[in-house]
Amino acid sequence: MKVLGLETSCDETAAGVVEDGRKILSNVVLNQDELHARFGGVVPELASRRHVEVILQVLSEALSRAGLTLKGLDGLSVTRGPGLVGALLVGLNAAKALSLATGLPLCGVNHLHGHVAAGFLEPETPEFPLAALVVSGGHTNIYLVRGPLDFEQLGRTRDDAAGEAYDKAAKLLGLGYPGGKVIDKLALLGDPRAFALPRPMQDRSLDFSFSGLKTALVNLVASNWGEKGPGPEVLPHLAASFQAAVVEVLTYKLEVLLGRVEVKGLVLAGGVAANQALRASAAQAAERHQVRFILPPPELCTDNGAMIAALGYYHLLAGRRLDLAEDVFSRWPRDI
Ligand code: KG4
Ligand code: ZN
Repeated sequence: MKVLGLETSCDETAAGVVEDGRKILSNVVLNQDELHARFGGVVPELASRRHVEVILQVLSEALSRAGLTLKGLDGLSVTRGPGLVGALLVGLNAAKALSLATGLPLCGVNHLHGHVAAGFLEPETPEFPLAALVVSGGHTNIYLVRGPLDFEQLGRTRDDAAGEAYDKAAKLLGLGYPGGKVIDKLALLGDPRAFALPRPMQDRSLDFSFSGLKTALVNLVASNWGEKGPGPEVLPHLAASFQAAVVEVLTYKLEVLLGRVEVKGLVLAGGVAANQALRASAAQAAERHQVRFILPPPELCTDNGAMIAALGYYHLLAGRRLDLAEDVFSRWPRDI
């Protein structure tokens, strides 16, 4: 079954074609970073408009790279939430129009479950149950995944997401937007023990909190360098110290998780899963608990259409359909 996945929940306009939930035939992502960079974050209105401008182009590119026309597809899958409402509506309405015009079955899926489904793609073979940590710009969620349609949320951030913390730290240090990648690179050159930053919520719960860490960094910078800000020589040390705190907390929670659930594998997904330090540290946690570590390549960790198609395959197989009158969700119902 060939499924086209459409993703427009934030600032990537993405479409991908996946066969049988596993084999990527195409995966086209149009990133809007340059559009939002000067604002230091995603401007929802601008994101929606850009989606409108480019979605048809992204869609036809995804089909042509897969060597298909719409007739060659068996189903459609679209991100229904969580995300920015205006942005989600562009993808949802495009998918509805396609379904109406072609008669192809359409399903609407949870974006965060989609991130986990990136771990179902080749060369992986999904084997359940799985534990999953989704770390993105908008979310930091822990799931127990009993099957491709059975997700139980075990933990989440109580305030900022891990990626959001990275982006805010980068903004504070004058490193631009989005900040994760820059801090990750800069941290390689710094000493992670140079500055003492808090490791929030190192307890037995599976919830996170990153806003205190951000405030600690703000205070550290203000008290040491005031208005002038830190010089270029200290930036790598600040980046490394900040990154060490985030990665240590995330890894700590993975240890708590893997000590609590019996699983076959651990999936690390979402934009922050592109982080080199986190990838290494999470791999070690999986090894300590002797579970398979499933880590999609960086281009499948950030938002993309292939992950939405991979998840949609299972929804369509199960006969789940999106009614044309249905809406998007900024927060998924029941918060799953
Ligand atoms: O999953 P994603 O593409 O979009 C959302 O659904 O949010 O994640 C984007 C987030 C941004 O906050 C970005 O700074 C972060 O992922 N990110 C990273 C890295 N690459 C992207 N964070 C840390 N290290 C990285 N290498
Ligand atoms: Zn995402």
